[in-house]
Amino acid sequence: MSETTHTLITPLSREHFEAVVDLRRSAFDNELDVALGRSYASAFVDEVCKSRHSICLVALEGERVVGYALGIANDAVTDIRNALAPRVMRSLLLRPWAILNRTVRARLRQRIAEELRPVRAPNTSIALAEPCILLLSIAVDPAVRRNGVGHSLLKTFEGSARQRNFRSATLSTGVTNTTAVAFYQNLGWEKVASGAADYQSFYRDLMN
Ligand SMILES: CC(C)(COP(=O)(O)OP(=O)(O)OC[C@H]1O[C@@H](n2cnc3c(N)ncnc32)[C@H](O)[C@@H]1OP(=O)(O)O)[C@@H](O)C(=O)NCCC(=O)NCCS
Repeated sequence: MSETTHTLITPLSREHFEAVVDLRRSAFDNELDVALGRSYASAFVDEVCKSRHSICLVALEGERVVGYALGIANDAVTDIRNALAPRVMRSLLLRPWAILNRTVRARLRQRIAEELRPVRAPNTSIALAEPCILLLSIAVDPAVRRNGVGHSLLKTFEGSARQRNFRSATLSTGVTNTTAVAFYQNLGWEKVASGAADYQSFYRDLMN
């Protein structure tokens, strides 16, 4: 699909699946994927990839997966959330101590709050041009960071979204993730207020 000197950006296929799960778990080591175990992380990637409304890309160096980007239409976020809810409960039953993890408790509170308001993820302060795609997750292998792989992934993601007639894109990241904040701003994403104090939302108009 898109190629830099050493890196090929291509749609995620079955053979990349395990490497993407591993990369996600290592890149977001304070997230649900680690606290709730690998089966939850696999279920998350699987549900997103299965959806007809998703865009799933990998960055390859040779055959090695060095990055990925996963996004889904805002309208389909509820489906993913509903599909994953039993997985979360199952993981918590299998490892009840995970509830002691601050991130797990915060994310569960956030999920419950989201259930109680009309779904629009993330809860940005501006009207999103519809249809809008939510970038759920992007990560690059630490060994090859700061070499433009993330840039290629995000630009290819935007291009794929345009081709699929999405008019805008959005995402949320933790306010303390200063690398991600610098990354999105550098690539032209606009900071917008988010509904949660510890999250920063970004917006990208795909029509310009
Ligand atoms: C965010 C992430 C995907 C960036 O991937 P990357 O391949 O290193 O990014 P790039 O090399 O394409 O960087 C593009 C630009 O982003 C900015 N940037 C990237 N990493 C940065 C850092 N550590 N500090 C400051 N700016 C940074 C720079 O402006 C950079 O351009 P430059 O190198 O010409 O100055 C990667 O750091 C990562 O996987 N982080 C962990 C997971 C994560 O936080 N994902 C995002 C939250 S959902």
